[in-house]
Amino acid sequence: MERLQKVIADSGYTSRRKAETLICTGHVKVNGMTVSELGTKVNTNDTIEIDGEIITKEEQKVYYLLYKPRGVVTTTKDDKNRKTVVDLIDTKIRIYPVGRLDYDTTGILLLTNDGEFANAIMHPRNKIDKRYIAKVKGLIGKEQLLRLQKGILIDGKVTAKAQARIKKYDKKTDTSIVELIIHEGKNHQVKKMFEAIGYTVLKLKREQISFLDLTGLKSGEYRMLNPKEVKKLYHEANL
Ligand code: URA
Repeated sequence: MERLQKVIADSGYTSRRKAETLICTGHVKVNGMTVSELGTKVNTNDTIEIDGEIITKEEQKVYYLLYKPRGVVTTTKDDKNRKTVVDLIDTKIRIYPVGRLDYDTTGILLLTNDGEFANAIMHPRNKIDKRYIAKVKGLIGKEQLLRLQKGILIDGKVTAKAQARIKKYDKKTDTSIVELIIHEGKNHQVKKMFEAIGYTVLKLKREQISFLDLTGLKSGEYRMLNPKEVKKLYHEANL
């Protein structure tokens, strides 16, 4: 149950102050009855009318955390009819991914119908860290790591400062496992950063977005964020 003036304001019809005036002056009906009391509570099933016009209530905001498997596209619809990340989530609400993971990248992805939230999480200004684990061909040295950390030229722009460290070398297969933490989200950023220092990414997984990780989920599984997590992310994203 929510206060009538809040529901009207949330619908985008008008401001809360003006909604209060409309209520007090008898312009608002709930289920066909004029309501002029400001404290009136309504729920999602109630029909609200202002001067005969039925307002559409704001859709409930939802937030999902998906463990994206390999071989799924990060869009709402694919023109080649491939499986999308939205297909993996059982909901009637129209949701979309927050940012992008490549077709062959696995790991944590958020999906929501909250546009303001999605933009804030993606915008580099808000410095939301994303932690990636990359398996790359070749043994990466300290100097190359330093170049990733300091910022490197990709697509004509220098990337922001990043954290990078070697987790493991495998001399037999001639590969390195590198952890990279960045807060930007340029197209194919991680692969391009490694490319810029002369290495190819063989496998890429995103393990963390801010304080959220994949704990308790298997590839292809998802869960809803709880209100505390949403609140914390809102705070981290300066909303
Ligand atoms: N950087 C990439 O190159 N690919 C991803 O999927 C995510 C970040």
